[in-house]
Amino acid sequence: MKTITVKGKNGYKILVEKGLISKAGEHIRETTSAKKVFLISDSNVMPLYGNIVSDSLKANGFEVSAFSFEAGEKSKNLDTITQMIYAMCSSGIGRTDIVVALGGGVVGDMAGFASAIYLRGIDFIQIPTTLLSQVDSSVGGKTGCDIEYGKNLVGAFHNPRLVLIDANTLKTLSQKYMNDGLGEVIKYGAIKSSKLFKSLEECEKFEDIAEKTIIECVDIKRQVVQKDFTEKGERMLLNFGHTVAHAIEKYENFEGMAHGEAVGVGMLAITKASEKAGYTEKGSAKRIEKLLEKFSLPLTAAVSADKLTDIMLFDKKRRGSKINLVLLKKIGSSFVEPMESEKLKAFFLED
Ligand SMILES: NC(=O)c1ccc[n+]([C@@H]2O[C@H](COP(=O)([O-])OP(=O)(O)OC[C@H]3O[C@@H](n4cnc5c(N)ncnc54)[C@H](O)[C@@H]3O)[C@@H](O)[C@H]2O)c1
Ligand SMILES: [Zn+2]
Repeated sequence: MKTITVKGKNGYKILVEKGLISKAGEHIRETTSAKKVFLISDSNVMPLYGNIVSDSLKANGFEVSAFSFEAGEKSKNLDTITQMIYAMCSSGIGRTDIVVALGGGVVGDMAGFASAIYLRGIDFIQIPTTLLSQVDSSVGGKTGCDIEYGKNLVGAFHNPRLVLIDANTLKTLSQKYMNDGLGEVIKYGAIKSSKLFKSLEECEKFEDIAEKTIIECVDIKRQVVQKDFTEKGERMLLNFGHTVAHAIEKYENFEGMAHGEAVGVGMLAITKASEKAGYTEKGSAKRIEKLLEKFSLPLTAAVSADKLTDIMLFDKKRRGSKINLVLLKKIGSSFVEPMESEKLKAFFLED
């Protein structure tokens, strides 16, 4: 088993091992003296893994109550949070009890947020079951939900007490969501590890290197959030490809490309532009393009660069006249370049 420790105030351990969910109870027992566990999952994951986790919790002396909601981003709202909190009340969850989030990023973000605000904050544990949540959302302490005005506009920083990652759960994940996570995996390689990027280029299929890769990605995220918990400096690097991706997602009303797919398109677009502008080592965009192709991720979106930059600029208006772009020096090395709003269009449109 691999153990990664996030240091600092409210630090926590991330355990990675195949088959780990069937031993969840033992590890959670070592972490907490809680009597009750409130197990939160969604309508896809609860039937697949709910019993395995619940049985292991009960075998370790926990009293378990469960709450499941309809899978999907549409459920990631304050109504579901209210239902969760009411169910926690009626199950008699107390200040020293614990919430376990079993599922993808939607489950983790919402269960984390409900834990952050219930009784002014109780402990919670992440058991992420999508590639995206294993490499990204389960680590870092960001929790929350969407409101009509936009995604993730309500939330709290609330670290988990423990993260349990079992790569075997990915066996039931659809290709669409696997690709989605791969967009973020490629991102980690591009911004921080040429070795990881290379291993993605060289592997025959991702499954062969899945667990090793998850460990590397989690460790990169750990280093970044440890240095910069609240996203002022280093953590911004994790947004590589995301400024463009958010604009694509917004243009498609969050009903088109999956997030990781949009991140892929964003990484390629910005690296093509930054290569032209002389910021990035030549050939980097080509390598990103080849990797996206290898994992069947899209290379372009059906929207003009002109329209996308309009959306980006509209989004950033509130934050002053500069837009922080994350660019690559070369594969494995990245930096933040503040760019004047007026220069953004030329940067992207010079093609
Ligand atoms: N907190 C953060 O730092 C952070 C970072 C990135 C993304 N996010 C959030 O994460 C969310 C996206 O996460 P996601 O992609 O995991 O979405 P998700 O939770 O909706 O999961 C995707 C789909 O896969 C299903 N599923 C999950 N695990 C499965 C498994 N093992 N087998 C079969 N089906 C499974 C789910 O039911 C769902 O239908 C977004 O809401 C995003 O805002 C948060
Ligand atoms: Zn992302």
